Amino acid sequence: MPGSDRVTPGPQHAFHGGASFDAIGTDFGDLERRHQVVDADVLDAWYEPAPAVLATLRDHLAWLVKTSPPTHGEGLRAAIAARHGLAPAQILLGGGTSSLMYTVFPQLVGPGDTVAILDPMYGEYHHIFAHVLGTRVVPCELDAARGFAPDAVAIADTVRRSGAKLLVMVNPNSPTGVAMPRAAVETLLAELPATVQVWIDETYVDFAPEVPSAEPLVAHDPRVMVAKSMSKFFALSGLRVGYLCADGSLVQSVARRNPPWSVGLLAQCAAVRALDNYGWYRERAAETHLLRAELMAGIDALPELRCMPSTTNFVLIETTGLPAGELVRRCRAHGVFLRDCGSLSPRFGSRYVRTAVKARQDNRRIVAALAAAGQRS
Ligand SMILES: Cc1ncc(COP(=O)(O)O)c(C=O)c1O
Repeated sequence: MPGSDRVTPGPQHAFHGGASFDAIGTDFGDLERRHQVVDADVLDAWYEPAPAVLATLRDHLAWLVKTSPPTHGEGLRAAIAARHGLAPAQILLGGGTSSLMYTVFPQLVGPGDTVAILDPMYGEYHHIFAHVLGTRVVPCELDAARGFAPDAVAIADTVRRSGAKLLVMVNPNSPTGVAMPRAAVETLLAELPATVQVWIDETYVDFAPEVPSAEPLVAHDPRVMVAKSMSKFFALSGLRVGYLCADGSLVQSVARRNPPWSVGLLAQCAAVRALDNYGWYRERAAETHLLRAELMAGIDALPELRCMPSTTNFVLIETTGLPAGELVRRCRAHGVFLRDCGSLSPRFGSRYVRTAVKARQDNRRIVAALAAAGQRS
């Protein structure tokens, strides 16, 4: 790989949740085992896909599995574009946004370039820029004393002073659950130099009704790229669907390296039906806020644990007692999988754990496991 000598030595892959598959078994020999675990270390939806999505998949399953999909997801791209007044030529599809990151970023930056990212933030970004592409990574540090709320002016200042070519942010951010409101996003764009590209990852935005998607901004600001996973809000994680909204000429140029059939037929069809049923998912998001409030009340009642405010389907928990790693290990003994956030930012130390919001029964198991873990042995 050209310039690979400049890549900071590091792990082969970014660390992710998903440890519950150790208990379920990746040979899928006994899928009933999934009922024994609470997989709150990943942020998948606690609900199933909309009934209309499942009905279509059930009715046409064999055909959907055995048939080649529309080559470049023409119908899905049209459905996405129509939602926010964009053109299909401004939409690039991928097998999840993860796949788009590995297709698009190598075409935007490389060794010698500087990329600014929020800190803390979803770990794949630091990994790809530092350990795969060999760029210089500049953290825009979010202040713990301000609840990790992003400050648009401070971020723009860091970007300007570092000479970064690209700013990557997650909004609402993970693992903090804190959103940057639209007005602040607009301030940020106004403060940034005209040459800086901005990748806004909106994986969790639809859970936060008060935060409008930045997708429409793409129509009049060629610097803006909005990455949208359909994994979480639309409950399609297993199918792998994501898309990027960006300036048409950028999409045209990066699409040359995007393989044909990058999203399978089952996934394309489910995604189109899911978009048609957006209102049903918004109702699930409203339920998620109620479930989150109950979960947080349960956790906050436990000694030495404190939930941070969240706008979305997960909660960051500060532990002032047991170190995060030990808390996570003890919860696992109860079949409850949580995320030790230490791997997401060195600034977290061993003080932060993240949990997904799950269905009510599972949330009770999470609280019970944390309570049992906190008993001094
Ligand atoms: C912030 C963020 N971006 C992207 C992804 C990857 O999502 P996808 O399933 O679309 O690859 C995740 C997955 O957890 C995430 O949390």
